[in-house]
Amino acid sequence: GQRMRNQKIHTTYPNDINRLNAPFLTMFESLIPPNEEKVKQKQLLTVLEKLVSKEYPEARLFLYGSCANSFGFSKSDIDVCLAMELQNVDKSDILLKLADIFESNNLQNVQALTRARVPIVKLMDPVTGISCDICINNVLAVVNTKLLRDYAQIDERLRQLVFIVKHWAKSRQVNETYHGTLSSYAYVLMCIHFLQQRRPAILPCLQGMETTYFANVDNVECAYFDQVEKLHNYGSRNGESIAQLVWAFFHYWAYCHDYANDVISVRTGRTLSKRAKDWTRRVGNDRHLICIEDPFEVSHDLGRVVDKFSIRVLREEFERAAQIMHCDSNPCVTLFEPY
Ligand code: GTP
Ligand code: MG
Repeated sequence: GQRMRNQKIHTTYPNDINRLNAPFLTMFESLIPPNEEKVKQKQLLTVLEKLVSKEYPEARLFLYGSCANSFGFSKSDIDVCLAMELQNVDKSDILLKLADIFESNNLQNVQALTRARVPIVKLMDPVTGISCDICINNVLAVVNTKLLRDYAQIDERLRQLVFIVKHWAKSRQVNETYHGTLSSYAYVLMCIHFLQQRRPAILPCLQGMETTYFANVDNVECAYFDQVEKLHNYGSRNGESIAQLVWAFFHYWAYCHDYANDVISVRTGRTLSKRAKDWTRRVGNDRHLICIEDPFEVSHDLGRVVDKFSIRVLREEFERAAQIMHCDSNPCVTLFEPY
């Protein structure tokens, strides 16, 4: 419409883009959790393991999500997955039992949410001040957490880009799945996809390489190359700076991605067609207005939360960000102005 016609679409970086490298890197550094926070998270996990194993000796606890995928901000909550065999026991009963145990051991704000899409127990540890959500047997999330962490080790620009994009998305309120915008997990996949598309590529497609890691989780085969220490030079033929990549990231999602026809697929390292996946029409609540294939659960579109209103919000925010990266005198401030 009018808004689009008034915009000028630029195809390459402004000359002085690299002046933004230092401020973006400073911003990245300030968002990384300090080491003592990581120590406290481990401490809390140990406390929880002790409490859980008294009742369920065979149960194991895993960290997943941003506290374990290396894309977590300072002061975030932690996500914990309790893995155990369930024989004729109800998940809800276990969650209620766990809530009892935690409550009687001085953990605060204990709450069992047994009817949520992913049922959890929430709690806050008064010793470390950390809040945490515990789910049961969400092992795929543990495996995709490892995939994301492995990608992060290949090229440091991925972690820098994700932190800046997540910070932007939180500032602009487009990181809220309950309002129809995207999860942090979806933004990380968008960043990985984007870096797989650069020429020369900055990231490889780990699931397209020799299998060195394999897990069969709930009948989903998860296989990929995880010897990422062998890939630490992978992106070095591409010399793009973080400022150039932030510019190009927003440019890509504002003007280059084909929302009508394409699905982004980190699993294949390219885009797939919506037609090939039969993601062309609304089925139930899945509208497929922006399509992001889960790397392991391939029938799962992480864009399914986006509706016809929020897709406009998202695309306008990508365009706003692209314009700011191109023309604004102080993008490191304007980009993150609260919505
Ligand atoms: P922040 O909490 O925003 O810092 O990010 P996060 O990485 O913890 O992401 P989020 O809370 O959105 O998701 C937690 C984890 O759940 C992800 O890292 C994935 O491993 C897993 N997950 C699997 N499927 C989905 C999904 O459909 N939506 C979301 N949000 N997470 C999923
Ligand atoms: Mg989280």
